Order: sequence, then C-alpha cells, then structure tokens
Amino acid sequence: MGQPRHRIAVIPGDGIGQEVTPVALAVVDAVARRAGITIEPVTHPWGCDYYRDTGRMMAADALDRLRDSDAIFLGAIGHPSVPDHVSVWELILPIRQRFEQYVNLRPMRLMPGVSGPLANVPAADIDMICLRENSEGEYAGVGGRVHRGTPDETAVQTGVFTRRGIERIVRYACEVARSRPRRLLASATKSNALQHSMVLWDDVVDEVAAEYPDVTVRKYHVDALAARMVTHPRTIDVIVASNLFGDILTDLGAAVSGSLGVAPGANLNPERRHPSMFEPIHGSAPDIAGRGIANPIGAIWAGALMLDHLGHRDLHDRVVTAIERVLADGRVRTPDLGGQATTADVGRAVVDALS
Ligand code: IPM
Ligand code: MG
Repeated sequence: MGQPRHRIAVIPGDGIGQEVTPVALAVVDAVARRAGITIEPVTHPWGCDYYRDTGRMMAADALDRLRDSDAIFLGAIGHPSVPDHVSVWELILPIRQRFEQYVNLRPMRLMPGVSGPLANVPAADIDMICLRENSEGEYAGVGGRVHRGTPDETAVQTGVFTRRGIERIVRYACEVARSRPRRLLASATKSNALQHSMVLWDDVVDEVAAEYPDVTVRKYHVDALAARMVTHPRTIDVIVASNLFGDILTDLGAAVSGSLGVAPGANLNPERRHPSMFEPIHGSAPDIAGRGIANPIGAIWAGALMLDHLGHRDLHDRVVTAIERVLADGRVRTPDLGGQATTADVGRAVVDALS
C-alpha cells in the first residue's frame, strides 16, 4: 500500500483569494509531507477574470471536474466588475447545493494574544462554533422578478425549509455539541415573526433535541442571539442556524473574535457522497487585493479543517496549534490585527511553528 494521497481541487478565485490560497496550501503541504501524506492540488482558473474572458464563472463541465476530487479548496469570489449575485450564483452556491454540502461549519474563537473589539473579554470567553444550514432556507434561490422597470416591479424570494433539511443540520449540530465539554446548543430562530418556516424549525429542533438528553438546547430569536454574542459571548457554545441567519451570525462571531481574516469555514457533505469545500469566510476584499497584506490565517485554518475532513485530525491540531503560537507570539501579524507583516510572512511563521 502506498502513502495516502489526496487530490484537492483548488479555486483561488478573486482578489485576496489569489494571495491567501497558495500560502494556505503551502502550510497544508508542509504538515502533510512530514507525515508522509501527499497533497495533489489541481488548480482551476475560475472566477471573475475567467468570467470576463468566457462569460462564465466556471467551465461548463466544472461540477463534473470537481466531482472526483477528495476536497475543494476555495479562496474567495467576487470582483466589482461582475455583479455579486452573478458570481455567487454561478460558482459558490451551485457547488454548495449540487454537492449537498448542507453543513457549513464555522469555528469562531478569540485566539490567545489577539485583542478583539469587546472590552474586558478574555480569549477563553469566545469559543463558539456555528453549524449553518447550507443548502436551502433563504438561499434556496426560489423566486422571481416581474414588471421590470415599471412602478409595479415586484420581486419574490421564497425561503424553502424542509423537515429533512432542518433535521439533518440540527442532528449534526447536536453531535458537535455532544463532542464539546459544555454540550450547549443555541438554536437561532425567529418563530415570532416567521410563523411558517421558523415554527417548523423550532418543532424539528425539539424533536431532534429529545434524542440528545445530554445536550442542553436553548432557542433564541436571532436578533437576541446576535446581541447575546456581543454582551455575553461566554454563554454561547454551539449555534445551529438557517442559511441566512448563520451567514450573519458568523460574520458577527468572526468580528468579535478580532478579525474576519482569521475565520475559516467548511462546507461539508457529511455522507461523503460528494466532495466538501473549505474556504476562509472573508471575501475577495478588492480594497486590499494585490498588496500582499491579506491575513492568510482564515485560509490556513480552513486548510486545517480540510485535513481533519480527510481523516487527519492530528494534522488539523498541529496546524491550529501553530496558528495559536504565531498569534500568541504577536510579532508576525498582518495589518488587520495591528501588525505590519505580509501574507507570506505569516505563512512562513506558521510553517516554522509546526512542531
Ligand atoms: C459566506 C459568504 C457567502 C454567503 C456569499 C458570498 C454568498 O458571505 O460564505 O458567508 O452568504 O454564504
Ligand atoms: Mg458571509
């Protein structure tokens, strides 16, 4: 039997995605190589430049070409030259939907040595993880726009919530909660105003929670939960949320953790019928793109989540420990964290910190 090999489809994409992706993959490669594991990246030139040249965000057979990879690594998508709803609906969302990546897992931690925007909150107080429903809900894509350009112009965007879709994300979240010391799960709802979708959400949460008597499940309206993440972050452990609610709460969670630049995300197909996709949660950041100062930590951490998914929990832990060392040491930091280091400097520091 040969050494393990993993084929990774890489889409660096746009803006700072081009800058953080090679740095993250260098860290993944360094830690894997030392463990005798081969990472085989296959890079695809898809994104907004590709759109300008071809009129498409990805090759026509892109999903078929991605299908056989062991994982997908995405940098960032978006450029002012292409409307965001086009770039997103021709690349990120089709991948998430077609490959049934119905779990969007996003850890949000204030790392030791990083000072977040909340006063008097020690690092240990912010350690949350969000399981965001990633295949339906408010992002189902159902709706339409009629009477364009007239005073009667109307748009309808319908949320789609299925029992099956809610149940599988809530169950996954309960499993994650069960695996953590506090065993606390906060469900983000809004069943006061959204009397159809979110009442179904709550019902399914109750049913699934009954199977997990060891997990404490609390329901919060999403607005109150957002406030609580700021006022009492220590009381939050695991969050389960619909697609849009999770999108908003995870930017908030990343912000209270010091920088959007450190936060990673995993788009998972837990059954492994299709490849999962790993990405930093920051976007393409056209305002700082091309300057080599983007924080690569979110992308590196996403790489660690990818290693975990590929069966290498030990390598995940090694990369996260190296990130913690670099942040705690504080000498090598990009400007978003108050430092002057470049993207490449941080990547080298993380590689050096791998034990
Ligand atoms: C994210 C992003 C995407 C989302 C956008 C780019 C569609 O904000 O991954 O959080 O809303 O899911
Ligand atoms: Mg987002």
